[in-house]
Amino acid sequence: MVIFFNTVAIIFVILDNAAGATTFNLEEQMHLLKEKYEQVEAKVIRLEAQVKNYEILAEKLAQLELVLMKNEPNSNFVSRSVEKKAVPRTCREGRANDPSLPSGMYCDMIKDRDSESPTDVGHCTDPGCYSRAINYNASNRQMTALAQLSSECHQSIKYDCIFAPLELNDVAFCWWNDRSGNSKYFWSGGNTDVHTCQCGIDGNCVETFVKCNCDAAAPIQLSDDGKNIYDAGVITDKDILPITRLNFGRTQLETSSGVYTLGRFECTGQTAVNGIPGSCEDLWRIGHTNGLYSIMGVDMVESVYCDFARLPNEPGFQTWIGFNDVQSSPTYFYVQKNSSFSQFDTPVPFEIEKLNTGGAMNLKTGTFIAPRKGTYFFSFSGIAYFPGSTVRQGFRMNLYLNGQAIGDGYEDEVASTSSFGAFNTIHTTLALQAGDKVWVQIAGISEGVSLHDGINHFTHFIGWLLREDISQSLVL
Ligand SMILES: *[C@@H]1O[C@H](CO)[C@@H](O)[C@H](O)[C@H]1NC(C)=O
Ligand SMILES: *[C@@H]1O[C@H](CO)[C@@H](O)[C@H](O)[C@H]1NC(C)=O
Repeated sequence: MVIFFNTVAIIFVILDNAAGATTFNLEEQMHLLKEKYEQVEAKVIRLEAQVKNYEILAEKLAQLELVLMKNEPNSNFVSRSVEKKAVPRTCREGRANDPSLPSGMYCDMIKDRDSESPTDVGHCTDPGCYSRAINYNASNRQMTALAQLSSECHQSIKYDCIFAPLELNDVAFCWWNDRSGNSKYFWSGGNTDVHTCQCGIDGNCVETFVKCNCDAAAPIQLSDDGKNIYDAGVITDKDILPITRLNFGRTQLETSSGVYTLGRFECTGQTAVNGIPGSCEDLWRIGHTNGLYSIMGVDMVESVYCDFARLPNEPGFQTWIGFNDVQSSPTYFYVQKNSSFSQFDTPVPFEIEKLNTGGAMNLKTGTFIAPRKGTYFFSFSGIAYFPGSTVRQGFRMNLYLNGQAIGDGYEDEVASTSSFGAFNTIHTTLALQAGDKVWVQIAGISEGVSLHDGINHFTHFIGWLLREDISQSLVL
């Protein structure tokens, strides 16, 4: 149009010129045009330079992305921050780590904008002939971490369909891929390998024998809102979300139409850790930085090293160091006798208390009562006194656990006419329940023989709690 008008103007001018009039006007206009042309040319050069800059930037970006990908799992957005060792656990933490992150990042973490608005899959025949990867503004690791830390995650998906079944005659034409890339054929609810939609779950699909409205044989106008049929659902299995790819097919008919709308991947809440942490994962959920920690093991407190730069399912997340020898209260005793004893079938009492920390040993009754479930060590030693005799003499000491003899110390002699003493010792390590009773008693003794003692204290009974099953001792 511009050219056309210019031509007219020139013709007009020539005619005018022929009439001997405005030569100056023509020259002036030519000059103006030339000036404008030069301005436009300069602009084009500037724009070209800018485009070149953008290309360089895009190239840089691609390189950066490559580097970040290579550095997985220890890098990506986390590596942009100063405090970058750990995977952030919350949106707040993510932003605290890196204030440059947009506020929506990590919580509203979705994806290229286009897939949030309705997208027509066009016309094609085969299963999954339309396939589209869904990209998120966070790495797979970050989204996994987010899901693990959140009490709930979901993502909505809607498919408006006319002659565009998700499944037909047991052939799946449409599916989506989960976080790990696995194909999934359910369009609402928790993880299942059964093809279904929300109407299939609710039992109110437009045809009774289908699990999805779109699988119905005829496109039925829904009477209530007058819209074409569709399937709309919310995927709620946080262990497999988010959707990483959408695949559709069988829309080859001219009358076919398939339009999907994918919602954001959203997570809310925080998984609770009840009671004493029992693993690095618990500590991670509570919110700790890398380090050596005590956790509650099966029986004992254990030492572990937690590396929160890794995810709970990754090797090296929790390294076991060893047991913590924690006792709820110390238990050890050392008692002696101050006089001889020869009573048969009754716990040996003790008179001298060198140590009785925890008070588990009752000297008068000679009975130790285990205060806690755990492993205990006991040692008894004493002297059996044999007077001179013309007949055979014997002496037997037993260690008893709840009335059962579990250890035996025995001496005898054959008709020694002069008296003598013989050492009698019993050592044992026992796994005891709280309340178990341990004592020593004479289980067999000849006339005149005794457990000999006096001011020199030959009889020693010691015991201690070697290892407490602390988890059993705790009442929370
Ligand atoms: C997601 O990434 C795109 C491109 O990298 C960016 O333009 C957009 O602002 C990001 N959105 C959020 C919420 O971070
Ligand atoms: C041990 O017995 C002797 C003699 O009967 C007595 O004098 C002494 O006080 C006792 N020692 C202890 C610590 O009971």
